[in-house]
Amino acid sequence: MAALLFINIKQLVGVHKQNTVLRGSQLAELPILENAFLLVEDGVIIDFGAMYELEINVPQLPKNVIDCQGQFILPCWCDSHTHLVFATTREEEFIDKINGVSYAEIAAKGGGILNSANKLNRATEDELFNSAWQRLQEVSKLGTGAIEIKSGYGLTVEGEIKMLRVIKRLKEKSNLIIKSTFLAAHTYPLAYIENHQGYIDLIINEMLPIIGNEKLADYIDVFCEEGFFSPQEMETICKAGMHYGLKPKLHVNQLNSLGGIKYATQLNAVSVDHLEVIAGDDINYLAQSNTIGTLLPTAAFFLRMPYQPARQLINTNCAVALASDYNPGSSPSGNMNFVVALSCIQLKMLPEEAINASTINGACAMEVQNEVGSIAIGKKANLIFTKPIPSLAYIPYSFGTNLIDRVMINGEYI
Ligand code: NIG
Ligand code: FE
Repeated sequence: MAALLFINIKQLVGVHKQNTVLRGSQLAELPILENAFLLVEDGVIIDFGAMYELEINVPQLPKNVIDCQGQFILPCWCDSHTHLVFATTREEEFIDKINGVSYAEIAAKGGGILNSANKLNRATEDELFNSAWQRLQEVSKLGTGAIEIKSGYGLTVEGEIKMLRVIKRLKEKSNLIIKSTFLAAHTYPLAYIENHQGYIDLIINEMLPIIGNEKLADYIDVFCEEGFFSPQEMETICKAGMHYGLKPKLHVNQLNSLGGIKYATQLNAVSVDHLEVIAGDDINYLAQSNTIGTLLPTAAFFLRMPYQPARQLINTNCAVALASDYNPGSSPSGNMNFVVALSCIQLKMLPEEAINASTINGACAMEVQNEVGSIAIGKKANLIFTKPIPSLAYIPYSFGTNLIDRVMINGEYI
């Protein structure tokens, strides 16, 4: 692929020297190069620097030189928590919620996840693939360059495997980095409401061997919540998944604090996600672990729940990432630009913190920090080119405005 040289970049954002997760006060450290150049070749970043160094660094200018006057370049968003594969949207529940019914009440009436599972089990693999593919195109145009996608709307052997095969096909066809998570333990299907052990046995004895055999997932997830899976059940399921090489990446503390964070950190989970409700020793367990706390502010926004205590987590030296939770029930949007804005507006994260949490820390929460998540030589040229903007803070400040001029994935504009 011919070399591309970008010059006069107003700010080149996220030129981190290291690919390690940022915790506590490090999260506000977002290295930036002003008036910069960037050289891309064969889909990767070859060089970058200040404009005054251009002559020395790039003595022979390539044919393609692009003037980026006034533009910022950022690494693409790394969205480490989504449920992007689903059969249909659920705007009827959205109306129920407007009329005062709670998320938990909707779930208890057979709506929510069970509603999505019914529809998913009736959809064909191709139908699911096609709609998920559309959503993937949509989020990549919004700047997402790496994404995690979960199963969890099957809740049957066939349904869960079908979802994971769809994710595998997305991985094969897409230029985005995609990680796959097995989430059969999303809720108890109706047939197992009185027989929890029966469903756990189904996950362990029927689903996991197929997933292991076909290498259908990278991670295992459990929705650890009152009325869903207990911390002990989560531990049993995670240990079975770990036997097949799946590391835990878990839904905890969305509605209640049941001790899921303690169990998850003891399992060395890659991440614990949601964290709307933090109590007791939760925060200390997280701060003292290698587990990343992934905040999903658009889920709190959409469900009108208290926002994640980001400041408290950061001030206690936790490693924090941000993700969209794109799903039909609690966050029907995969727009990471809005996630970043909302995190600044409602979670009181600084723009630098929100951008780091959505790039390098999101990459760490998918273990792809050596490939994406920052501007570094050798990393994939997965880049967001903004329209001309006055400052970095303008990005979250002007929420709802599309400031993206172009997105590049593997060195190609999309
Ligand atoms: O992360 N809370 C559990 N799972 C999803 C929502 C699933 C749904 O409502 O369909 C979440 O918010
Ligand atoms: Fe989720």
